[in-house]
Parts: sequence; C-alpha cells; structure tokens
Amino acid sequence: MNLIKANGYKDLSRKAANVISAQVILKPNSILGLATGSTPVGTYEQLIEWYQKGDIDFSRVTSVNLDEYYGLSPENSQSYRFFMNQHFFEHINIKPENTNVPNGLAGNPEEECERYEKVIADLGGIDLQLLGIGHNGHIGFNEPNISFEKTTHVVELDDTTRKANARFFESLDEVPKKAITMGIKSIMQSKKILLVANGPDKQDIIQKAIFGPVTPEIPASILQFHPDLTVVYSFE
Ligand code: GLP
Repeated sequence: MNLIKANGYKDLSRKAANVISAQVILKPNSILGLATGSTPVGTYEQLIEWYQKGDIDFSRVTSVNLDEYYGLSPENSQSYRFFMNQHFFEHINIKPENTNVPNGLAGNPEEECERYEKVIADLGGIDLQLLGIGHNGHIGFNEPNISFEKTTHVVELDDTTRKANARFFESLDEVPKKAITMGIKSIMQSKKILLVANGPDKQDIIQKAIFGPVTPEIPASILQFHPDLTVVYSFE
C-alpha cells in the first residue's frame, strides 16, 4: 500500500491527478474507473488544467463510473452522469461514446447491472479505479454489511448516506432511495486503485478502513487486500 499524505485539498488534488496522469501517459488507451462525490472534483480540475496545457491526452481513454442513482435521468443535475459531464468529460477530449455510467433509468435495473458488468469485462477490466469514501466506509454505493463477492448490483441507500448527500438536493425526500453500483468484486478486480480522502471528518473512517480489521461492516477495509492500492489523504 502506498500512503501519500497531502497538505490540504489543492495538494491532494494535484497528487491524485499525478497518479491518473502517469497512468494515461504510460498507457494512452487506459480504462479509467471514475468516481463522483465532492472529493474528486479538484482532481478533475487539475487534470483539465494539464489537458488544456497539452500535457495529457484523453482521446484513447475509456471511462467507467462506479455508480448512479436509480431513477435519475442523465439530464437531472443530481445524476452522476450529469456530474461527470459537467466536472470532467465536457472539458477534455475523451470521446463521449467511450464514457460509461450505469443507466439510472433502466427499466430493468438487474439487467442493467449485468450489462454494465459485461461492459467492464469486454473492455478487459479497469486499469486504474479512483475512489472516494463515505463516512460509514462505503465505496461506490457499497454500504456497510455488503457481500464482498458482489459485482454490479442494485442497492438500497443507507439513511446516513442519503442525509450526507442531501446537501446536493432540494430536500432529503428528493434523494433517491436506490442506486446501481459496481460491487466490491468489480472494484477489487481493477489493476490499480487510488483512494482519495479529504478533511478532518474523514480521518476516523480512513484509520478504520486502512488499519482496522477487514470487515463487511466497513466496505473500504477490503482495499487492504488489494495488491496495488494508493491512498492520498489530507485531514486538514
Ligand atoms: C457518494 C458517492 C461515493 C463517494 C461518497 C463520498 O456517496 N457514491 O462514491 O465516495 O459520496 O463523497 P464526498 O467525496 O463528497 O465525501
């Protein structure tokens, strides 16, 4: 495990972007697993800046996102597809058809999970997966007490997660109750993993996830078993 301490959010974003940019420079047709949440936003901003300077090229990159709220359309400003377009894809030269996010409007969500898992398999797996972490240790939307064996599946969101994410919605009632997420198995099969955690409120869960026992009560703790994990953190 590679633990990288950053000095504040800007530094964390630069260090995380460095890992992603090294991946893309060394393998221009990388399959990048991407994440939403507020933490990766600065990482995307840094990558956009380097792209604008001509230092990094996304034209051969394919992306697969971790998760999507069930019931939200791509045009809904709270959907993760909208978030990715707004914060990253629209500002770089990745081909829109090479960006993948689960379809939150799929009529049959179970079928959508199977389709999504097949997309990842057909791409030959994920080269580098970027992850944030929830306060309860969730990664993607794998809430505590999940099975480590699961691939992409439908989840009921925890009340704590809905409350934490309610700040992006008009009210708590509008936060979807379900989501489609890559499972722990899909995540663990990535060749490399980059976990980013920012702020004093993430210190406790990072301590538990990285140094505590590996348990489904803290989904991110399984990452301790990944052979190529980098954690970039700042608790300032
Ligand atoms: C959401 C996302 C997660 C993310 C988490 C933490 O629940 N599904 O992928 O890691 O939020 O978000 P933040 O970085 O805003 O703390």
